Amino acid sequence: MSVPQSSAGEDAAHTAERRWAIVSMALIAFLLVVIAFTGIHWAAMPPSGIEPIDPTTLHVSGEFIEPNLGVQIRGDGTVIVRLLAQQYSFNPQCLILPANTKITFRGTSADVVHGFLVTGTNANAMLVPGYVTTFTTEFLHEGEHLMPCHEFCGTGHAAMWAHIKVVSPETFHRLMSSNTGGRCD
Ligand code: CUA
Repeated sequence: MSVPQSSAGEDAAHTAERRWAIVSMALIAFLLVVIAFTGIHWAAMPPSGIEPIDPTTLHVSGEFIEPNLGVQIRGDGTVIVRLLAQQYSFNPQCLILPANTKITFRGTSADVVHGFLVTGTNANAMLVPGYVTTFTTEFLHEGEHLMPCHEFCGTGHAAMWAHIKVVSPETFHRLMSSNTGGRCD
């Protein structure tokens, strides 16, 4: 009578082993999917800070020359802002931006590490010489915001800030028709 008992025990052991094999295979498959997904995602959307730029020629050539700074409306209706930080000011010093519109910031520094945040919003970034910082955000409400430098950059750090005026999309487009660059400084 001991043979069927032993066989039943073996069956139970095999079932349990198979179950655990399936669990561990599923875990490995899940981890492979996670690795593949993050790899593709990071390749498609690299984090900011890895786009290099020569800080010594910013003023004379390339994306951050004076006429390119400020606000521009892109073909798809979204807005791009280019700004330059240097001891101890931002260029532009004041920007007009539309509410409820996708806004991409692109900025860099001409000298040391600066940073900026738009008070009361989640817009917050560092500006590192040699790299372009870029992020996209949307302001939900109209209003005026201070945009201070938030990385200690020297004796004038505390006096380094700019202004952001968020207006309705209608007002923004009206102002932009006569004010290329969206400046209010
Ligand atoms: Cu620029 Cu602190």
